[in-house]
Amino acid sequence: MRCTKCRGQEACLEVRRHNAAFCEACFLEFFRDQVARAIERHKMFRRDEPVLVAVSGGKDSLALWDVLLDLGYDATGFYIGLGIPGYSEPSREKCEAFAAQRGARLIVTDLESEYGLGIAATAQRTMRTPCSACGLSKRYLFNKVAQEHGFRVVATGHNLDDEAATLFGNVLRWQTGYLGRQAPVLAEEDGFIRKVKPLYRLAEREMAAYCVLRGIDYIVDECPMSKGAKSLLFKDVLNQLEAVSPGTKQSFLFGFLEKAQPLFEEHEEVELRPCGQCGQPTTAELCAFCRLRAEVAQPKRRRGRGGKAARAPRDGTPEPATAASALPLVSPES
Ligand code: AMP
Ligand code: FES
Ligand code: ZN
Repeated sequence: MRCTKCRGQEACLEVRRHNAAFCEACFLEFFRDQVARAIERHKMFRRDEPVLVAVSGGKDSLALWDVLLDLGYDATGFYIGLGIPGYSEPSREKCEAFAAQRGARLIVTDLESEYGLGIAATAQRTMRTPCSACGLSKRYLFNKVAQEHGFRVVATGHNLDDEAATLFGNVLRWQTGYLGRQAPVLAEEDGFIRKVKPLYRLAEREMAAYCVLRGIDYIVDECPMSKGAKSLLFKDVLNQLEAVSPGTKQSFLFGFLEKAQPLFEEHEEVELRPCGQCGQPTTAELCAFCRLRAEVAQPKRRRGRGGKAARAPRDGTPEPATAASALPLVSPES
């Protein structure tokens, strides 16, 4: 098959939802165009604005960091050591190797040694699933560390598959608060910096192809804690639909963003104040992260899940539940 773009070279990758097949050079151009289009269409950040890129060592976030550097943006990496045995260490090494190779700056924070909140141990000591403690900690540190280093925007590697799966989960449970906050850009507000997802137009398999073509060495293993997570099941279901009807995921997500998301936006004023301990914005006396730290520091005992459900996280990502868990999703407070 010939490349449908240049019509000269042999195609190496088919992108069925675009009715296209690309040679290496045209695929890289397509990839960059999709990222550039996302950034411009949603005014994610300006050319001269430093961006903090949250990198996990996986294909999505390293591809994002690479393409932003390539497009000429001032992109600094940010890696959080999550304290997951056998996974966190090699993930950090991939990020460090990428930074060294590209001469880029990488900021590293460690949940376990700096905050006493390694994910494996935290999940054992609390009623939270690992992914829930992990999501809460990441959201918190993205904001805090970005502010400490003077960034006004943080970019994550969420791709089309991630966003479609999150949307699917939110729709199945009609999580209207989350739906209102699921967008490629969350504007800066009341102590929360801007959050952007420049890869939302590109699918997961395009990430892998990009990394291979660009020689990016990433951690292939999925996080061992995410086994059985509902998001994986949702991705699987959507992939089955996509195989029969290419473009389903894209039209599901893009249609939602254009036609439905604004209907779910909540304009009610929430009163935020600085956390009594760390100063990050919260609706309570102490923010959810500081409460988690306090809970982990307590002697171990049985804990209930009581308490009122707080506000949905700003990025529309629900608290992940494992397939084994029949508990309702409770929204964490950012
Ligand atoms: P996940 O929640 O694991 O699907 O990851 C979503 C995005 O969060 C990734 O694409 C990264 O941008 C960011 N991320 C995940 N893990 C880390 C980490 N350990 N440190 C920094 N950013 C991360
Ligand atoms: Fe967060 Fe696996 S990456 S629990
Ligand atoms: Zn706090």
